[in-house]
Amino acid sequence: MSTLNDFNNENSNTSDNPTFDSVLKVRLSRRGLLMGSVASVSTAVLGGTALTACGGGGSDAVAATPAATATSLGFGAVPKNLADKVTVPAGYTASVIYALGDPILGGATAFKNDGSDSDFENRAGDHHDGMEWYGLSATGRPSSTSTDRGLLAMNHEATTDETRSSFFLHTNGGTATLPRPAAEVDKEVAIHGVSVVEVKKTADKWAYVKDSAFNFRLTPLTDIEMAGPVRGNALMVTKYSTNGTRTRGTLNNCGTGKTPWGSFLTGEENWAGYFFRSATDNAARGNDKSVTSLNRYGRSQGAASRHGWESGGSDDKYMRWNNSKIGTSADGSDDYRNELNGMGYIVEIDAYDKSRTAKKRSALGRFAHESAAFSVPAAGKPLAIYMGDDARNEYIYKFVTAANWDASDADPLSRMAAGDKYLDSGKLYVAKFNSDGTGQWIELSISNPTIAAYAGYKFADQADVCVNSRLAADAVGATKMDRPEWCAVNPANGEIYYTLTNNSNRNVNATGSSQLVPDSANPRAYTDMKGSSAQNGNPNGHILRVKEGAAGSAATTLTWDVYAFGAESGADASKVNLSSLTSDQDFSSPDGLVFSPSTGIMWIQTDDGAYTDVTNCMMLAAMPGQVGDGGKKTLSYTKTDGSTLAVDTFVGKTPTATNLKRFLVGASACEITGLCETPDGKAVFINIQHPGETTKMADVTDPTKYTSQWPSNAGYGLGKRPRSATIVITKNDGGKIGT
Ligand code: FEO
Ligand code: CA
Ligand code: CA
Ligand code: CA
Repeated sequence: MSTLNDFNNENSNTSDNPTFDSVLKVRLSRRGLLMGSVASVSTAVLGGTALTACGGGGSDAVAATPAATATSLGFGAVPKNLADKVTVPAGYTASVIYALGDPILGGATAFKNDGSDSDFENRAGDHHDGMEWYGLSATGRPSSTSTDRGLLAMNHEATTDETRSSFFLHTNGGTATLPRPAAEVDKEVAIHGVSVVEVKKTADKWAYVKDSAFNFRLTPLTDIEMAGPVRGNALMVTKYSTNGTRTRGTLNNCGTGKTPWGSFLTGEENWAGYFFRSATDNAARGNDKSVTSLNRYGRSQGAASRHGWESGGSDDKYMRWNNSKIGTSADGSDDYRNELNGMGYIVEIDAYDKSRTAKKRSALGRFAHESAAFSVPAAGKPLAIYMGDDARNEYIYKFVTAANWDASDADPLSRMAAGDKYLDSGKLYVAKFNSDGTGQWIELSISNPTIAAYAGYKFADQADVCVNSRLAADAVGATKMDRPEWCAVNPANGEIYYTLTNNSNRNVNATGSSQLVPDSANPRAYTDMKGSSAQNGNPNGHILRVKEGAAGSAATTLTWDVYAFGAESGADASKVNLSSLTSDQDFSSPDGLVFSPSTGIMWIQTDDGAYTDVTNCMMLAAMPGQVGDGGKKTLSYTKTDGSTLAVDTFVGKTPTATNLKRFLVGASACEITGLCETPDGKAVFINIQHPGETTKMADVTDPTKYTSQWPSNAGYGLGKRPRSATIVITKNDGGKIGT
């Protein structure tokens, strides 16, 4: 929402990878390809389902969780609406349990919510996002079966701003001009990162435990270890870590993952915009290749940073946000010219043990990370971790572990040591989707001559490939996608679902490299009206589905289709509403995506700006089928020069009234994100992020002008300023959620 720049939706892929014009004409029979491999792959992944339970460090119990028991959705669909509240189906209750500013540590006092609060290192952070559940037994041991006590590990992605200032955190909205006062910067930094908080059910009521010894925060100032190929590399040398083995903090944490060995993974997403480089920096660096890297990650010299934190003072904690070449050293050990290379990773955290130092797992690449979804573990086989890069025209990735899965690691002596074993060595791949419904995973390795000899950037070593994953993916011609958000693995058959949230850069008449013509995996370019404003490209997004080839997690071939296209139910069914969504099912801009281990339901959450004239963001429940259960459709576009562009795509079986329904609609101007549940599926936790984010900074002291007053209007907490918050959803008859 910033007026300075669009820090959440950047577009920096100007590589000239194939745009599918060349391959659209190739039309193979795809049904034959799909049918041949269904049985063998399904059998292989189902063989591993008994190993999915997480425990760790002396669990009281580690039990297998049977997957996918529900076959239809047993609730009444929630209508689209613009009410400033959370709407759930009849027979369900949604309760707020943990909001921005709630005290979790030390002597933090009740949150006044009037802009006067401070010490956010001891409070819940802002913009609650991805979230995972870590069960605790009655005696406080890790437990995979506990249903009434556990830890929620969650991301605090960002903060509501208009120009620089996180205005709801400051009494009169704070300072939008430079320099930013140090006290304002300190608050804003501290509300980012991660929180781990205990939650407990007492007499059927869930609440967070304010004084739990398990609670902790990670902020952008917490000491973190670099792990994997970049550890100790020249690209990582800073004044903070002159040997390149450490960095400070994690930032803009969005999607999450839960490892089979019981640790928490968090993805660093739109981190680049928080840093600043001076307008003369390129020359100071001799216009070296760091400039190419900077630009490819969406930044340029002289561009304003999101909050101006680098202006907070001469203390090192402010200087680290300035990535200009200021020092005189040859290696960067006297300034923060390399600091940006320390952000953009999947970070591993031991949610059960705050004494363990978190580690950035650089082998999994550096980009705008969302979730990290594991393949169904199979003993003796590698694990795959699926990931997306959320920016327009960016890529889909997977990491395949060098180590084969050992079921005894489900309950390891040390979760971080298990992370070292599985996450520090392996192969990073990027996806290419063909027009016939097949695709490839292409390895990003310095030993690939195409990468080693890439004209666009001279890679020094594998660490450089990891730090500059986007450039390596450009080199091998990966497929540019419509903003990959979260991904999730269907526990019933191992298929991988990717939300592609939207893309304003799809254009039938595109000729350049940032505007792209539609291709088979991203086949729509159309206009949707929001009031009188036209939304062009693919404003509603879609959900892509991938099935691995015969080698399963280690496969380098795949098949794909589109589970469902987001659309308004009234949109043209031949060009836009290709999945024939009804008014009980229609959605726009899918983002969060999580499979329930206990019910098999796939939960779809939206972060939308296109359909928000009609409805607030929402969550839907789906019982999806499988890759290939629908058929081919050919979209025919007429270009302005009169020629025809024909695009084949593959659309999943049309959803029915009982296998796709809207379950929830959020408060005003929020996004729905993050989901985890108790192992019995009877309590589902989700996050309501940034209610009221469209409020103007000038109106910060006038509650009547807030675009949301949630959750105070739901009876939670003091003050009327809107707050991001975790809610718990329960069924009034005590049953499983969604069934
Ligand atoms: Fe933080 Fe891409 O959603
Ligand atoms: Ca519309
Ligand atoms: Ca999101
Ligand atoms: Ca989003």
